[in-house]
Amino acid sequence: MRYEVLEQQHIDECARGFVAAYANEPWTFERAHEYLEDLYGTPRSIGFCAYENDVFLGAIFCREIVGSRFNRLSIEEFFVVPDEQRKGYGNALMDVVRRHVCKNDLEAITLMTERDNPAISFYEKGGFAHVESMAFLADKSV
Ligand SMILES: CC(C)(COP(=O)(O)OP(=O)(O)OC[C@H]1O[C@@H](n2cnc3c(N)ncnc32)[C@H](O)[C@@H]1OP(=O)(O)O)[C@@H](O)C(=O)NCCC(=O)NCCS
Repeated sequence: MRYEVLEQQHIDECARGFVAAYANEPWTFERAHEYLEDLYGTPRSIGFCAYENDVFLGAIFCREIVGSRFNRLSIEEFFVVPDEQRKGYGNALMDVVRRHVCKNDLEAITLMTERDNPAISFYEKGGFAHVESMAFLADKSV
């Protein structure tokens, strides 16, 4: 696998891959493109795209968040195209992210996802743990 640092020119293929990876959700290419372009445009965003023989495999979109003493890296989006899942590419992309975190003296890698997302096993196997002290709140009455 080889990787490229995420740039504007990658957003089209990322949006196609994203729609395929989330086929159980009603994403259109246009909305996925808008969503990913916004993530890419966030201040301190950093991401990586993975390829095998120039075929797009998946991508990870992150952003650095400034803390009182240290900064951390938040994973904002992460997907591998369905035909290429469970072949180790997700872990390979996470290795790229971990190297970025070490090189830039970041404190931690964090992410938020639905509690029933099967990807949680992926993260747990990679050393991530649930943070009991955090709460996620929403007001759905608006
Ligand atoms: C999560 C994701 C990026 C992982 O990428 P991947 O290339 O499939 O991961 P790897 O092949 O490196 O997986 C390594 C191990 O993680 C675990 N794992 C990966 N995906 C899993 C899943 N969907 N369910 C349960 N375990 C999973 C497995 O133990 C796997 O090893 P195995 O195949 O030998 O059992 C990919 O499954 C994906 O795109 N999912 C849909 C989008 C998504 O939910 N993204 C996460 C948003 S927070």
